[in-house]
Amino acid sequence: MLCLLKFTPLFLVVAVCHGWLFGDLFEKQKELDEISLWPLPQKYQSSAVAFKLSAASFQIVHAKQSTAGPSCSLLENAFRRYFEYMFGELKRQEKSRKKAFDSDLSELQVWITSADPECDGYPSLRTDESYSLSVDETSAVLKAANVWGALRGLETFSQLVYEDDYGVRNINKTDISDFPRFAHRGILLDSSRHFLPLKVILANLEAMAMNKFNVFHWHIVDDPSFPFMSRTFPELSQKGAYHPFTHVYTPSDVKMVIEFARMRGIRVVAEFDTPGHTQSWGNGIKDLLTPCYSGSSPSGSFGPVNPILNSSYEFMAQLFKEISTVFPDAYIHLGGDEVDFSCWKSNPDIQKFMNQQGFGTDYSKLESFYIQRLLDIVAATKKGYMVWQEVFDNGVKLKADTQIHVWKGRPQYQDEMAKVTAAGFSALLSTPWYLNRVSYGQDWVDIYKADPQNFNGTDAQKKLVIGGEACLWGEYVDATNLTPRLWPRASAVAERLWSDASVTDVGNAYTRLAQHRCRMVRRGIPAEPLFVGHCRHEYKGL
Ligand SMILES: *[C@@H]1O[C@H](CO)[C@@H](O)[C@H](O)[C@H]1NC(C)=O
Ligand SMILES: *[C@@H]1O[C@H](CO)[C@@H](O)[C@H](O)[C@H]1NC(C)=O
Ligand SMILES: *[C@@H]1O[C@H](CO)[C@@H](O)[C@H](O)[C@H]1NC(C)=O
Repeated sequence: MLCLLKFTPLFLVVAVCHGWLFGDLFEKQKELDEISLWPLPQKYQSSAVAFKLSAASFQIVHAKQSTAGPSCSLLENAFRRYFEYMFGELKRQEKSRKKAFDSDLSELQVWITSADPECDGYPSLRTDESYSLSVDETSAVLKAANVWGALRGLETFSQLVYEDDYGVRNINKTDISDFPRFAHRGILLDSSRHFLPLKVILANLEAMAMNKFNVFHWHIVDDPSFPFMSRTFPELSQKGAYHPFTHVYTPSDVKMVIEFARMRGIRVVAEFDTPGHTQSWGNGIKDLLTPCYSGSSPSGSFGPVNPILNSSYEFMAQLFKEISTVFPDAYIHLGGDEVDFSCWKSNPDIQKFMNQQGFGTDYSKLESFYIQRLLDIVAATKKGYMVWQEVFDNGVKLKADTQIHVWKGRPQYQDEMAKVTAAGFSALLSTPWYLNRVSYGQDWVDIYKADPQNFNGTDAQKKLVIGGEACLWGEYVDATNLTPRLWPRASAVAERLWSDASVTDVGNAYTRLAQHRCRMVRRGIPAEPLFVGHCRHEYKGL
């Protein structure tokens, strides 16, 4: 065949020769079309019986017995979205043709079984995301307790659909019963170091749903900028954002993110990190930050939140009261990491306060003093809280249901996970998943191998591991590079947190992940390549 093409332009001949020489490789790639589930379901059985799906006649419908119906806009929306993913432009083409071919599989019935399908609710840490899916002659049934499980099942169904050489959509006879290994599967994005336009945040929520992630940890403010527009303290973003109008998230922007996420079964956990990481807060709020001293006079620079003034706590009480109503999730992330003691040490008023309190020179006691008062403030809003590990490490008294976010000590996280869970706290892991760190080659492999339960501890301790988060800190990331830097590397975390602990075969993962990455590309997500290869439908650019 390649010799017949000898009169075509040189590059084509070369391409075909290549295909001939590496025929095996191409065969392998073709095969992948049919086995590209990501993350891998808990129980999965398929057979070589294939059914055709016609874009003109195939439908996703509510099962007769379902407790949800057409009034469930969350599902209606998801039906449209997944139909589009599966058929894209085909629907219009086939409809315009005189006759559509007979579809072997005419519909997917979505059957919600519990009395309350939760159409208008929010997902939570306790949400049941399990589902079962059976694809057989004439119809397919997706069964879930509530809409959240149905969303996960719709994603899986769409991944089962593949395109044959004629562009016809096929699906094999399949039985799946699936549920997540961990309840908290998150992505952290940082909108302070660089402002992230809404469009980028929404695109990543789309990609998260494709990977069955269920928590968007919005590290919304930090030292460099304060883009969150507060109704109670508008001066925070007026003076603390990079620009008071173009680089802010208005209340309606925030609402849109929360609703877009909800429609995809994703919680939005906002982080307002204090007492460190608050330089931008100081621009708008007088006396909030500690004045640093150089010798006996103020140096003009400022440190962490001033923990000795009552006004600091009055401010926090009002701000967190607002935050607790803006973000519906049951948890708020309070940060508490990397508090720099040097400024506190330099300040004579703080030194005096330390003496009065009997803290000696132990500034972690002052930090604890601050955090404990903050926790009381947040507890009064009826929210639960997540904190970075330092808060635990420094011995701050914590409510029993506090979630400790482990991030330090890369690559060693085992001791900290053991300590946190031995103390009876819920733990989530990020140490091996700082995806802002990039290195040449296939760094997804180490990301994939890390396991949050891989530490020495009792079963009870292992049960306290609620999951983990992939973090993409923003020092070197903005809208230009965020998506390809995050995907498909974050997909490796997605499978670790969803699939069974025994799913560890890197070779098998590679073939599925390469294909999953192509699927994300096809759906408009510019996910970067894993290695040499091609996608049937390449990224077309902007
Ligand atoms: C799906 O069916 C096709 C056609 O019978 C078969 O070649 C392929 O191996 C099947 N794939 C899976 C994953 O069972
Ligand atoms: C701060 O509040 C506490 C308790 O509410 C009070 O005892 C104390 O005098 C106040 N300090 C200042 C400086 O106002
Ligand atoms: C668990 O403890 C054993 C014995 O002390 C040690 O050899 C091993 O490395 C530990 N495993 C982890 C994951 O920390």
